[in-house]
Amino acid sequence: MVRLASTATEPLMKSFKIYRWSPDTPDQKPEMKTYNVDLNKTGPMVLDALLKIKNEQDSTLTFRRSCREGICGSCAMNINGRNTLACLCRIDRDASKEEKIYPLPHMYVVRDLVPDLTLFYKQYKAIEPYLQRDSVPEDGRENLQSIEDRAKLDGMYECILCACCSTACPSYWWNQQEYLGPAVLMQAYRWMADSRDQATERRREKLENSMSLYRCHTIMNCARTCPKHLNPGLAIAKIKKEMSFA
Ligand code: SF4
Ligand code: SF4
Ligand code: FES
Repeated sequence: MVRLASTATEPLMKSFKIYRWSPDTPDQKPEMKTYNVDLNKTGPMVLDALLKIKNEQDSTLTFRRSCREGICGSCAMNINGRNTLACLCRIDRDASKEEKIYPLPHMYVVRDLVPDLTLFYKQYKAIEPYLQRDSVPEDGRENLQSIEDRAKLDGMYECILCACCSTACPSYWWNQQEYLGPAVLMQAYRWMADSRDQATERRREKLENSMSLYRCHTIMNCARTCPKHLNPGLAIAKIKKEMSFA
């Protein structure tokens, strides 16, 4: 008799503790619910495990996602104490450690891992994130930019507005009704630094108050947590510098 070698991989079970809350049962307190997932039967990222749980164990588990490649910014959440994108966050294969997953901190929760980003987007809208000019381009068609001026936008245009940085910022936690937070301020600077934009003065005036900008105390949680390796704290420091010399 020929004995065939087993090709099945041993299960590698890991616990995922996930924050759950539903607006359908508002009297029920939020809870951490545990799901066990075989890491040998799921993809390598936390988003893969969440999708597996939703597909196979609990279809009520709610979270945002779209691109699964760090582009849309919708799967931002707090994983093991750090704000990041679930689709870019590798599962720690040490099965003895639990994976703890919460929604982005200090935000109202819509359901489970879905934060309410209404204020965040309202603040983004308030900085008028689009090109503003008083004059038409010389050739009547295109607003040209030198290679050097274009390079000044590097490190800012890549922002995907995931809100990981703003929701990691202590100043934003305590003053988010008035302080714009790192993500939105970096976008404000992205337009101030754009050589084609002619509204720099107006943009500065909007920030000239004690709350919108100056609540940043250079704690730099924002740069530490950004899953795209951007540095909003540096952009904020540049706004402050330019405003003090304007
Ligand atoms: S700066 Fe980074 S963390 Fe902040 S919103 Fe943009 S991509 Fe997300
Ligand atoms: S550097 Fe400023 S914006 Fe960034 S976390 Fe600190 S206080 Fe917040
Ligand atoms: S699913 Fe788009 S950034 Fe994660």
